[in-house]
Amino acid sequence: MTKGGNLVVRRVVCPGSFDPVTNGHLDIISRAAPLHDEVVVAVGANLAKNGLFSVDERIEMLGEVLAGYANVRVDKFDGLLVDFCRAHDISAIVKGLRAVSDFEYEMTMAQMNYSLAGIETLFMTTNPLYSFLRSSLVREIAKYGGDVSGLVPAPVLSRLMARGPWS
Ligand code: PNS
Repeated sequence: MTKGGNLVVRRVVCPGSFDPVTNGHLDIISRAAPLHDEVVVAVGANLAKNGLFSVDERIEMLGEVLAGYANVRVDKFDGLLVDFCRAHDISAIVKGLRAVSDFEYEMTMAQMNYSLAGIETLFMTTNPLYSFLRSSLVREIAKYGGDVSGLVPAPVLSRLMARGPWS
């Protein structure tokens, strides 16, 4: 897109914990990619302290599963998401909504981020196939030896299998 003769890159961010990335995340990222010039998938490093996978492992898995998307890159951020957006010339945050309960939580964050820095939030509704899917459930099922093969991409499954069942 051009604005006043200048090329404007529509760069958006898909932020999250991604502990680990699920098929639900992939659904949103893969649908967001063709709608924007560039999608930055950003792992919130300050939330990672008590997670299952380290930030580096999360980034590695995301890199593997998103390797086929030319305009998607993976990064991490510390602190406020709006500061990351400003530093990387990102104009909007893309979030997936699974249910009304997600919307209630996400709306306040969207309004806060707009009021802090004028950063817009764009909501995409999750594919109903994945409306029940969240990383914390994947971790719990894998922890007790349950089958998560339909919930996560192959590189994540193999890492979970290598770890679990664990106590
Ligand atoms: O996958 P998650 O856990 O739902 O991701 C939440 C995340 C990382 C998107 C959110 O917690 C976040 O943006 N954290 C960064 C800190 C921040 O900017 N907080 C103010 C939000 S209004």
